[in-house]
Amino acid sequence: MGQYEHISVETGTQPGLAVVTIRREKALNALNDATLRELTRVAGELEDDDDVRVVAVTGAGDKAFVAGADIGEMKDLGPREAKDFAERGGALAASIEGSKKPYIAVVNGFALGGGCELALACDFIYASGSAVFGQPEVKLGVIPGFGGTQRLSRRVGIAKAKELVLTGATISADEASRIGLVDVLAEPDALWDRVRESAKAIAKNGPLAVAEAKRVMQAGQSMTLEHAVDTEQRAFAGLFATGDQKEGMDAFVSKRKPEFGGR
Ligand code: CAA
Repeated sequence: MGQYEHISVETGTQPGLAVVTIRREKALNALNDATLRELTRVAGELEDDDDVRVVAVTGAGDKAFVAGADIGEMKDLGPREAKDFAERGGALAASIEGSKKPYIAVVNGFALGGGCELALACDFIYASGSAVFGQPEVKLGVIPGFGGTQRLSRRVGIAKAKELVLTGATISADEASRIGLVDVLAEPDALWDRVRESAKAIAKNGPLAVAEAKRVMQAGQSMTLEHAVDTEQRAFAGLFATGDQKEGMDAFVSKRKPEFGGR
């Protein structure tokens, strides 16, 4: 794994699980340009590592996941630079959504603005009861720039998303869970156990099947139902050309555990 200044990466805590931690605790893990670049770079590195099956993304300390894009750094941007910055956030979100591996956002405090958007790009949001979510950009005279207006609407429905984006209100983890923004709500002490359990369950499955399921479900979001179902059928059929399908089904009929090779 490469050298990073603003993030750390751990792959040794549990087989198959990589933990990426944003480490700008003094700025509540706000995303500056350098951190966005590092996160995108690490996503690329983890993508190429077959031993990594699930990526958890979190923020250092117990106060914040990520309190947004770095306001100090954005303050003096002009429109052209702001577009570049938004594209950098967009590229990170695209690399997470386009990844073969499931990403879990582990939210332990403030997930605001770009932090909420980073969580929304992940496949799952696991949060402790102390988490706080919101898109407060309008309070700064701007709007979400890392995909929040779109991904939040798709996740919680456009009316709820408008309410959050237009008021800039923050909501508790309980409320976020109630509206479907949070997938798993856990006591702070139990949060990582839940992440590890899910990572373990996913890592037991066929890697190609997990990757194809994610790809097809993600792609289907912007397709007609007919086209999306056709995409699923092609992916289903394609998996019958893999060793993983032979292994998975042979193991079932032989009453043994499968050993998937990811081929
Ligand atoms: N950018 C840069 N620095 C930030 C930050 C951010 N988004 N959020 C917090 N910080 C810094 C603070 O400036 C402060 O630094 P100093 O100690 O050097 O003064 C430090 O983190 C601690 O923050 P607070 O003292 O403000 O802590 P608090 O407990 O009183 O409040 C908070 C916590 C409610 C999260 C408050 O910090 C806050 O409102 N932060 C900004 C949240 C926000 O507006 N996020 C959206 C950013 S815009 C965006 O993300 C655009 C986009 O979509 C791309």
